[in-house]
Amino acid sequence: MPASTTPARRGATISGWGTALPPHVVTNADFEARLDTTDEWITERTGIRERRHGSSTAALAIEAGRAALDMAGLTGDDIDLVLLATTSPDYQIPSTASQVQDELGIRGGACDINAACSGFVYGLVQAHGLIAMGLNRVLLIGAETLSRLTDQEDRNTAILFGDGAGAVVLEATDDAGQLLAFDLGSDGSARKLLDAPIGGYMQMNGKEVFRRAVTVMVQSANTSLASAGISADDLALVVPHQANIRIIEAACSRLNVDADRVATVLATTGNTSSASIPLALVDALDSGRVKKGDHVLLVGFGAGMSWASAVIRWTGHLPEVAS
Ligand code: COA
Repeated sequence: MPASTTPARRGATISGWGTALPPHVVTNADFEARLDTTDEWITERTGIRERRHGSSTAALAIEAGRAALDMAGLTGDDIDLVLLATTSPDYQIPSTASQVQDELGIRGGACDINAACSGFVYGLVQAHGLIAMGLNRVLLIGAETLSRLTDQEDRNTAILFGDGAGAVVLEATDDAGQLLAFDLGSDGSARKLLDAPIGGYMQMNGKEVFRRAVTVMVQSANTSLASAGISADDLALVVPHQANIRIIEAACSRLNVDADRVATVLATTGNTSSASIPLALVDALDSGRVKKGDHVLLVGFGAGMSWASAVIRWTGHLPEVAS
């Protein structure tokens, strides 16, 4: 059975969100000062101007998660499950989610999800599935400290990755909820294109990852759009994984989605893997770029090689700016 479907069960809606970024800003000029690279090369080839380094995955997840709970008017005691998408956990054992569960006082269960940069969308789909099965509220977080997994002397990778977190609260609704369709996939035969051994640094075939990223984002997006019964013209916003502005532009141009319907934050965050889609989504929500009833496409790809996309129709909370 394909890993895509159109859910038609007890639904869920996003009722709160939050983000966290460590305070230490690393600019392209900082790399230019110590590596064989230039601000111009990094900006032109990636669209990244700065990224944040520091903190821990748990600390960022807790800060973002607490903000999302506050916005939803909830405490940890109201939450049945915390799902933490991360590819840079603080410990091998236990899950980073266990610390988040403890420090936020979450009553229910806790586990990490590792689907690399697709992790948040994998988590979004899993949260909806568990709510369909009876949970009432799930805290979903994407959090990373990729600076720890990146050799800061390697110009091929150091310039790309950053640290951060984004979180949403999902609550059960009486109707079908927000999620219209999704597509989850993986091509494990390509896993060597981007990996990091335990205790070691990330290595990557950037050119090949780039090529595959554009292809799978477009394919997955089209699969989810078809399952949802809408076309790219119906989308108010695309929230893509934030890896490289040229990947985003190439994929969105193939989908016929112009730049003013695309959420981007990577100029100031770099690639934050599981955190990148929630960081971009929250930025768009806080800027009033989403209105009630809007169709929003989330689409990610990453190590594995994994991919994930979801189409939602916004029925959730809206900030003051958009009302
Ligand atoms: N500064 C200057 N030159 C750099 C550089 C840097 N920071 N990093 C790489 N280069 C060099 C390469 O060594 C290469 O030199 P060579 O021709 O002498 O071998 C040259 O720039 C061109 O490399 P190329 O691979 O053609 O560049 P590119 O246009 O593909 O851009 C990436 C490189 C990594 C930015 C791009 O391939 C990319 O973004 N790939 C996807 C990475 C990604 O998103 N990974 C995470 C997936 S979730």
